[in-house]
Amino acid sequence: MRTNGHQPRGGGCPYLSDGSGPPHATGGTADDGVPPGSTPYAAYAAMDTLLALQHPRTGAETEPGFIILSQVKELLFKLLHTEFGTARGHLAEDRLDDALWTLRRAGRVQQVLLSCWDAFSALSPGEFASFRDVLGSASGFQSVMYRKLEFLLGNKNAQLVGPHENTAKYDEVLAQLHEPSLYDEALRHLARHGLDIPPEYLDRDFSQPYRPDEKVAEAWRLVYEQPGRYHGLFLLAEALTDTADQFARWRYTHLLTVQRTLGDKPGTGGTEGSRWLSAIAEHRFFPELWSIRSAL
Ligand code: HEM
Repeated sequence: MRTNGHQPRGGGCPYLSDGSGPPHATGGTADDGVPPGSTPYAAYAAMDTLLALQHPRTGAETEPGFIILSQVKELLFKLLHTEFGTARGHLAEDRLDDALWTLRRAGRVQQVLLSCWDAFSALSPGEFASFRDVLGSASGFQSVMYRKLEFLLGNKNAQLVGPHENTAKYDEVLAQLHEPSLYDEALRHLARHGLDIPPEYLDRDFSQPYRPDEKVAEAWRLVYEQPGRYHGLFLLAEALTDTADQFARWRYTHLLTVQRTLGDKPGTGGTEGSRWLSAIAEHRFFPELWSIRSAL
């Protein structure tokens, strides 16, 4: 098993200075890289900056929670993007064990992301309405990290780059659209292990939507029918299904939360709201891993 070589000093909390007693290192010194007036804890993860990033625009009691939880979700999108990017890199290098280990970690993060909806659903319709106007046209549609995450997993829809046009993040989002997805790399990995993946799926214009294919489905079917022979690939198939499953749960729970707090009102981003989200919730990543199930 690879590690990053980092061991927390004292074997306990990584932020403890020596593990032998209560931490006492506060305030910077010339040689520890901690700015004067800060602590090593705050300096390491920019905690003071983080805590200064909440700016409610109304006096509504629930607006601070809405902002903080939205920020938490955005950070978790970022973390998932990092983890799935790492797993994609492992597959590209045929490091299947490392990819599986990384997908396991990403799955735990997806669970945290999903559980955030519990806190959002505590918001009554009136409480949400008390500050909703100040959102203006702000919508999750405009989330850079969410869009990059969807593109990384394989939901390529060039139109959804649109909200980022004329922003500083446009190139980043567009670049992600053109990169191979996690699923594209999984199919390349399958091909290198002797499974019959059509060549046009191995080197295609990755900015185009993925089209499900019967031969790809047949390759996965073989893996499921002979899990002993294709043990690693079978584990990969189930790990990817876990990823897609968790993502579908996130979409459904978003929809449910919206039905609960907003009803059928239109979204701030200009869609019909819950009806639009309901259609979106039907999408599944890695489509052949779902379609083959009725034949297994
Ligand atoms: C009660 C709170 C929420 C409501 C009522 C709500 C409502 C909606 C609606 C109606 C849409 C459709 C697009 C539009 O017309 O705006 C949407 C899209 C979206 N929302 Fe939310 N939302 C809520 C919370 C959140 C949170 C906290 C996040 C994450 C930080 C989020 C992320 C997204 C994303 C990423 C989309 C685009 C989905 C896609 O492209 O597939 N939403 N939301």
